[in-house]
Amino acid sequence: MVSQFEYSQIAHPDEGQQLGNILAQCFLNSQDEIEPYFNRIGRENLRIIREGEQLVGGLAMITMGQWFGGQRVPMTGISGVGIAPEYRGTGAAIAMMQYTVKELHAKGVAISVLYPATQRLYRKAGYEQGGIFCSWEIPTQSIQVREQPLRVKPVVPINHELFHDLHQQQAKLNNGNLDRNQAIWEQVILPNDQEKLYAYLIGSPDQPQGYIIFSQNRENDGSSFIGLRDWVVLTTAAAKTFWSFLANHRSQIDKVRWKGSVFDFLTLLLPEQTIKQKFIERWVLRVIDVPQALEKRGYPLGIQAELHLEVRDDLLTENNARFILSVANGRGEVTRGGKGELTLDIRGLSPLYTGLFTPHQLKLAGQLDATETALLSATQLFAGSSPWMPDFF
Ligand SMILES: CC(C)(COP(=O)(O)OP(=O)(O)OC[C@H]1O[C@@H](n2cnc3c(N)ncnc32)[C@H](O)[C@@H]1OP(=O)(O)O)[C@@H](O)C(=O)NCCC(=O)NCCS
Repeated sequence: MVSQFEYSQIAHPDEGQQLGNILAQCFLNSQDEIEPYFNRIGRENLRIIREGEQLVGGLAMITMGQWFGGQRVPMTGISGVGIAPEYRGTGAAIAMMQYTVKELHAKGVAISVLYPATQRLYRKAGYEQGGIFCSWEIPTQSIQVREQPLRVKPVVPINHELFHDLHQQQAKLNNGNLDRNQAIWEQVILPNDQEKLYAYLIGSPDQPQGYIIFSQNRENDGSSFIGLRDWVVLTTAAAKTFWSFLANHRSQIDKVRWKGSVFDFLTLLLPEQTIKQKFIERWVLRVIDVPQALEKRGYPLGIQAELHLEVRDDLLTENNARFILSVANGRGEVTRGGKGELTLDIRGLSPLYTGLFTPHQLKLAGQLDATETALLSATQLFAGSSPWMPDFF
């Protein structure tokens, strides 16, 4: 890759300062907000791009995991991608993303995920739609769930470590959910200006069956809502308790908002379809290392199948090859070679891998080509619940 730009870690404190200035301007933040962000992420996880002596922009890497098929896949989240306005349109961002993807590959990372402000840029680095970030809203009066089988107990002060194990139990059953790292956890419990967060364990404190973390807010029109920061519901009793606890706020709170899957099972407990989608976005994923990514995720149990893939990847030549994925007992093994019966660009592999779209839908969208047998095997292997996550980074 020949580039006019140089990519590196931060070597001097003044580079951190300059990057802080650029990102503050890019994301309409104050300098005061950037400092804690850098501290949370860790300065060693920041990358910068320079043209000669001039710092042009940068980004942050967040090392964590993501659950697919009940297994944890090593994933690096990318956040804070920003280029100084005077350097925009010069190819700086795409150069930086390409360097980043190469660095992640060299480190043995399987996949990478980010929230794209523009898809065009990230598609050029091999990212494609992978899953959903979705927020729901319900009028509190309409929840109407009265039965509360479990007690709820306030958690004061809010220490996120108390919630890790419960979160893990839920996340591993939901394709696309994160194995959060410290930075993401800190973000979950970080109050915004003037905001007070409340946390409750659902069930007995020694054997909790879920939890709920929320703030109470007022809109400009005077109406009020509870905004759920995070929730976990592991049993039916916890699901009923979750709703009745929220419904008990109805004398003062007009609405409840939470993040969940597009097909949120919690809403099946409600008497009527009074939920409204508040917003929906799609995060994008890049398969960084094809064999690693395919071997690290889980597959449906009871399926024994072989899939012969041919992947095109212009950026990472190691991925630009034929692979055989052999699956048995819920796990996959990858060897190089094979007949290449399902051909696709590295981008097409993202929504196939996560299960966002079926192989048939991806074929219709021009993202892959396959023999009938390969299409059937891929449909069985990548079937699963719709991929989503409640976290934004
Ligand atoms: C988005 C941003 C990083 C792009 O930086 P840049 O250096 O101008 O991007 P590049 O010159 O490398 O462009 C790479 C490709 O993305 C496209 N692109 C860049 N910004 C785009 C935008 N806002 N909308 C649509 N396409 C865009 C370019 O057209 C180019 O594609 P092309 O070669 O096919 O024309 C920059 O505008 C920025 O810092 N914005 C403010 C912060 C932000 O939104 N960051 C993204 C967070 S996910």
